[in-house]
Amino acid sequence: MVSHDDDNNTHVVEEVMVAEAEKRLVLTIVIFIAMQTEALPLVTKFQLSQGPDLVFPKEVPWIRYHGIYKDLRINIICPGKDRVLGVDSVGTVSASLVTYASIQALQPDLIINAGTAGGFKARGACIGDVFLASDVAFHHRRNPIPVCDRNGICAKKTFPTPNLLKELKLKVGKLSTGDSLDMSPHDEAAIIANDATVKDMEGAAIAYVADLLSVPAIFVKAVTDIADGDKPTAEEFLQNLVAATAALDQAVTRVVDFISGKCISEL
Ligand code: ADE
Repeated sequence: MVSHDDDNNTHVVEEVMVAEAEKRLVLTIVIFIAMQTEALPLVTKFQLSQGPDLVFPKEVPWIRYHGIYKDLRINIICPGKDRVLGVDSVGTVSASLVTYASIQALQPDLIINAGTAGGFKARGACIGDVFLASDVAFHHRRNPIPVCDRNGICAKKTFPTPNLLKELKLKVGKLSTGDSLDMSPHDEAAIIANDATVKDMEGAAIAYVADLLSVPAIFVKAVTDIADGDKPTAEEFLQNLVAATAALDQAVTRVVDFISGKCISEL
């Protein structure tokens, strides 16, 4: 029989192990980026090269760009193109699968999810803003049964990075994730209930997997469209994609430069 003492000891040992891990230098980073267009400028900036390697099963379209930048082993991972339709495999299903496989294969010290997002002007978001998410939650998973409702929303605080925030002066807001670019009335109510400033299609899924496997994760999101504005989302997204990607890539470079030479506990 497992006693309370055994449980307590296990918790103490786990806490000591986490504290020790946080004192180690960050050496390996996984940067998950859903759209290849958003990833390619960073691939060039960090002088990364693409496989061939045996990190992922040969059947999947997932792409790993990797290399050494400063003292960091950087891996930019994209879910790749849908084999039939030729478009990026955005959304929570591929994000969680790829994150799981990347953690298993690469054992990163930190995950950065970088991407674009819809922003809420009522909460101060403007086109081109770059946010660091303080919290993540889902807005498309509904189950009204008590407790299951909270399990569906799966709200989490992200890994705290007070020094990085102070240095980089990024905007901070809560991120809400669903599998749609546009927003149904139900989505809108759920996003408001999640108190979110930005919405995306991957963040909470990546946070779920990172949390399961105890890997710190942070979320950098650039606003391409105003979710509570008048313009059709898809049109506004495409119109601003290039400019927002440039802002995103600049912010991610600053984040990576800040991380270089530091341990997790210094972020
Ligand atoms: N990525 C960019 N804009 C988005 C939006 N409005 N919703 C979800 N993901 C996005």
